[in-house]
Amino acid sequence: MCGIIGYTGVLPAKDILIDGLERLEYRGYDSAGIALLEDNNIILKKKTGKVAGLREAAGDIKSDSACGIGHTRWATHGGVTDINAHPHKCGQVALIHNGIIENYRELIVEYGLNEKLVSETDTEVVAALLDKLYEGDPVCAIRKAVKRLAGSFALCIMFADKPGKIYAVRNVSPMIAASCDEGSIIASDLTAVIAFSKKYFVVPEYHILTLDKNGIKVEDLKGNVVTPEILEVNWDITSAQKGGYPHYMLKEIYDQPEALRNTVTPRVKDGLPYLLDDGIPDDIFKEFQNIMVVACGTAMHAGMVGKALIEKKLRIPVTVEIASEFRYKDPIIDEKTLTIVLSQSGETIDTLEALKLAQKKGSKVLSIVNVKGSTIARESDYVLYTHAGPEIAVASTKAYTVQVAAMYILACKTGLERGIMDEASARDFMAKLMNAGEIIEETLKNANNIKLIAEEIKMAPDVFYIGRGLDYTMSLEASLKLKEISYIHAEAYAAGELKHGTIALITENVPVIAIATQEDVYSKVISNIREVKSRGAYVVLVSEDDEINDSNICDRQIKIPHLEGEFTAFATAAVLQLIAYYTSASKGLDVDKPRNLAKSVTVE
Ligand code: AGP
Repeated sequence: MCGIIGYTGVLPAKDILIDGLERLEYRGYDSAGIALLEDNNIILKKKTGKVAGLREAAGDIKSDSACGIGHTRWATHGGVTDINAHPHKCGQVALIHNGIIENYRELIVEYGLNEKLVSETDTEVVAALLDKLYEGDPVCAIRKAVKRLAGSFALCIMFADKPGKIYAVRNVSPMIAASCDEGSIIASDLTAVIAFSKKYFVVPEYHILTLDKNGIKVEDLKGNVVTPEILEVNWDITSAQKGGYPHYMLKEIYDQPEALRNTVTPRVKDGLPYLLDDGIPDDIFKEFQNIMVVACGTAMHAGMVGKALIEKKLRIPVTVEIASEFRYKDPIIDEKTLTIVLSQSGETIDTLEALKLAQKKGSKVLSIVNVKGSTIARESDYVLYTHAGPEIAVASTKAYTVQVAAMYILACKTGLERGIMDEASARDFMAKLMNAGEIIEETLKNANNIKLIAEEIKMAPDVFYIGRGLDYTMSLEASLKLKEISYIHAEAYAAGELKHGTIALITENVPVIAIATQEDVYSKVISNIREVKSRGAYVVLVSEDDEINDSNICDRQIKIPHLEGEFTAFATAAVLQLIAYYTSASKGLDVDKPRNLAKSVTVE
């Protein structure tokens, strides 16, 4: 994700833009830049690093232009460099972008744009396209360009010969706008707008905005002027940093649909898994004999979900190792092993050292990383970046589900390249994976029910998560989430293993959260639930079941949508994240920065 802002009005724009970018910095902080429009000239200042560095660099801009755009970047296409930083300028056009243009390569060829380009980004292609199409009418040029763009975009655009005006258009990527006495402002979210106005509107998709100091015109692609619904925000600037959510963690749980779309969509071409744009050749999926997955914490749990799928669908052996263990056990891997490393931060020292050990033993390393250009990414033979945007809360949520999605993409690609999956089943699989965001959106509608359940378990000294197969794997992540932010001792247990000792701990009202989403073991899990219920447990059943109404089975239910086996992972993840979140929040704990923890563990 990136942060974008535009301002045109009666005040000098430079500091307004930079202040706004500082408030948007949680959306990305690889690089930042501004463009000011003054006397038919576009003044550009952009550089890698945080917004504070841009503010210093912009000190030499003497312009008091009252019209400009600003951007803080979370790199997706192209490295973290000054040239790749936004705004991008091409001829008469300067623009900023949040999203992913999927067909930017085709556009370069179709419109002969190559000579115009200096960066590695998809965004610059849009600027070049607009400059090529521009014949004096910005709205006309934007209308033509938008019809050719595929993917997600929130664009703010200036044309050198249109002083005082900013144009904007979006598809999927968020953008809101507001008019006020000081002029008109547009941004990725309220964080940057609320200082000017508590009244705003959400930019309607595929509508072209023209902003000037007197107001904002909104027209559809046919040129019909529309009046958007004006909304009013009821929270203050401090919570605005979290897009209106009380905690980053909750915001990031709700970010998951967008994060999944941004991660999966660019890896699908003609309905099939496509990784060439990521520099991952098809051949590597044919060569290896076994897979080693190495990571820590939540990243390791995501790898375990990938293992469950790969072994079930592809019958390829997958070993999952905790990085800190892997490093000291003289692992049995060689050139016939593909090592998959997962890391949100790309800086976890145990994972980094495990990566180097795998390479020393001859194994190629493919890493799944969220932070572009991070150390693990740079050290890997291949990198599949997740596009979750910055994850601020220490407890990982959206990074986990996009890591699972990335594992699923690799599994499908392997199955296709080895002929284990035919094209039809690969298309069906990828179509279902493209829908993962909607699965989470649907599941999050359980939030109020989950909040009530959290109130009922929050004072328990111990909580047990049980499940079988994939649901046991999900239990591991669930218990970590609950432990690390609510400080309750939570334990994940294979449901069939309970009776071999641990069931001695199940007494009156001990909460047991039973996950029963896998059809092939459902009845077995239900009988395990009856075992703990008969010992007085307080059972929360997470399943696809409608109301069960049987006190011998469960006290509470959380219903997830009906899904095919492995895709329940996305729904279950959302449920378990919310259980942990609401339990911690209801205890008044520091959800985003729990005690003793750090977002990236760069020490051994
Ligand atoms: C997850 O909620 C934890 N914050 C932690 O387990 C984390 O997943 C682990 O430290 C690995 O971090 P990484 O993904 O940045 O390598």
